[in-house]
Amino acid sequence: MKRPRYKRILLKISGEILTGEKGYGIDPEVILKIAQEIKEVVGLGVEMAIVIGGGNIFRGVAASSKGMDRATADYMGMLATILNGLALQDALEKIDVHTRVQTAIEMREIAEPYIRRKAMRHLEKGRVVIFAAGTGNPFFTTDTTASLRATEIGAEVILKATKVDGIYDADPAFHKEAHKYDELTYLDVLKKQLKVMDATAISLCMDQKIPIIVFSLKERGNVQKVVLGEKVGTEVK
Ligand code: GTP
Repeated sequence: MKRPRYKRILLKISGEILTGEKGYGIDPEVILKIAQEIKEVVGLGVEMAIVIGGGNIFRGVAASSKGMDRATADYMGMLATILNGLALQDALEKIDVHTRVQTAIEMREIAEPYIRRKAMRHLEKGRVVIFAAGTGNPFFTTDTTASLRATEIGAEVILKATKVDGIYDADPAFHKEAHKYDELTYLDVLKKQLKVMDATAISLCMDQKIPIIVFSLKERGNVQKVVLGEKVGTEVK
């Protein structure tokens, strides 16, 4: 049997994936499939933390572009990630994966507050730790949260699960001739202004030398493939 390439990983799940075909909210079937994939990877003995986005429910940037105060809009977006985090926890626990949700905005009745050392202890015990509420600060994306938390917990890689199967030189949804990259450097991403992650997130990964693998979560088994070192998606390093 192949051995996992990593001991500790951070999986970033975009909120949009959770909508399935509905285009809004959380599709229980989709979230269950994702939970199943997570279970397989945890079964390999890999420690997994998760940062989840909230774009399926509320997008702070989009709302602020239509006139809402950006900080307020971002706080609403952070609350959306909590809904997603709880839904994912529920799906995982239904299939017997032990989880802990930690939130960057304190709401003790609902979840533990984010405490780095506690998160690391949970991971050592084989629990999946879901980080919700972003960094707790407006003006930072959940991609930046992923970079920050990955750094804090000593994750070896960020797996960025999206709807697209890697990084392209143009949006493949609109450009048929768009070319997919297998590998890129952090500086390539920044210079070419590729829409993978925002510059803050990329810069932090570059400083900390944390590779990012961007791949599609629509294809079944991809998380496991990436963890086992198969060439899937695009690697930024
Ligand atoms: P160990 O200390 O390793 O046993 O971890 P543990 O998470 O099992 O211990 P703890 O007693 O801290 O937590 C028990 C349960 O309560 C877990 O499901 C936690 O997620 C939950 N929990 C812990 N702290 C809080 C909190 O501040 N708020 C909420 N809502 N739940 C919490």
